[in-house]
Amino acid sequence: MNILVVGAGGREHTFAYKIAQSPLCSQLFVAPGNAGTATIAENIPVGVTDFEAIKEIVLSKDIEMVVVGPEDPLVQGISDFFANDPALKNIAVIGPSKEGARLEGSKEYAKEFLFRHQIPTAAYQSFTAATVAEGKQFLETLQAPYVLKADGLAAGKGVLILQDLEEAKTELENMLTNQKFGAASQKVVIEEFLDGIELSVFVLTDGKNYITLPTAKDYKRIGEGDTGLNTGGMGAISPVPFADAAFMQKIEEQIVQPTVAGLAKEDIDYKGFIFIGLIKVGDDPKVIEYNVRMGDPETEVVLPRVQTDFVSLLQHVANQTLDQAEITIDSRAATTVMAVSGGYPEAYEKGKEITGIDTVEDALVFHAGTTLVGDKVLTNGGRVIAVTSFGDDFRKALAGSYDQIQKLNFDKMYYRKDLGFDL
Ligand code: AMP
Ligand code: GLY
Repeated sequence: MNILVVGAGGREHTFAYKIAQSPLCSQLFVAPGNAGTATIAENIPVGVTDFEAIKEIVLSKDIEMVVVGPEDPLVQGISDFFANDPALKNIAVIGPSKEGARLEGSKEYAKEFLFRHQIPTAAYQSFTAATVAEGKQFLETLQAPYVLKADGLAAGKGVLILQDLEEAKTELENMLTNQKFGAASQKVVIEEFLDGIELSVFVLTDGKNYITLPTAKDYKRIGEGDTGLNTGGMGAISPVPFADAAFMQKIEEQIVQPTVAGLAKEDIDYKGFIFIGLIKVGDDPKVIEYNVRMGDPETEVVLPRVQTDFVSLLQHVANQTLDQAEITIDSRAATTVMAVSGGYPEAYEKGKEITGIDTVEDALVFHAGTTLVGDKVLTNGGRVIAVTSFGDDFRKALAGSYDQIQKLNFDKMYYRKDLGFDL
């Protein structure tokens, strides 16, 4: 079977790496891909939301399965685009329908879903420009810190956590009436602050059945000790050491099962990944967010631990036979450390030559923001390359990632040296 992966980051390189290993895959394409995917697949320079161009590729390359990496095409309805086109309707798309993708595309929609299905989450109310005054009154009833969330997609920047009540009121006003996050903040969800430690759970579902993939924890802040600005993720660890069997059982019963059952009950077509962001409050898990895709860089530690043929799992998703699938997980820990461009997540330069990639040993190198120009690999994004290692525990795995990442070099390369410090 010929397969197309949609996306250009470390997540998509990891998908491509797993798919390329499968005897079920004949030819592999990535749109648009990066210098890493170019070594194992054919890159096709097409944007992830250019559905007409993706259609052309699918038809001309005889593709039978499309695996969608990022949220934008999902929220814009790539699955429905395929389902509604007579020439494409039999192609398997791994990624939820537009309705299912609203779990990530609208915070209010996700909160309503969580409450409808009695899934533990923070108390909330949502407000619009017409109800700013009520929003400010609601803030007065809460204790600091105050959590304000833009309803729509805001590239990971739409959540503000503020200590001061007056500042929270001002920011609410900025979001609702001054469109601080553009159209994404026409509606704002104000949420109870949850105090605890975060982890993520990944679920692969066919809309009826599911399998739970390994847990992971990412490090979002740019600076050591979890300081400074938020990034897409500076590294990740799997499994999460504090997620023991008893806690995982609670997650399964209180969160994963009711989520999948809720999707089925509401007739929401959902064939793909659910990435559930959780906080452990005391001994109990609560949902902070749903994403309708895999995480990046979480994928770089979760998928390498999956020993089962990845394409066979995706076929079970497409055929709604995931109840027949068995999944085997590598018991070792995996860690990944992300090398980023100096300046990221603010302004940074691209086009720096990356050297040392071929000298990395006993580790997996996943390209996040790179491009191939001639025979040179150049930086092409803020997050550039993730180095994944295995170990008997996360500390041993991290030692491997840190040992190997030093072999890479590009101008103003930076990475966090303290991953796992909090565990
Ligand atoms: P989100 O985009 O919803 O994942 O939020 C971004 C980050 O804000 C999360 O990873 C958490 O660290 C934090 N956060 C979101 N909601 C809450 C909450 N209700 N209580 C505490 N922290 C939160
Ligand atoms: N690493 C967080 C995300 O993919 O959203």
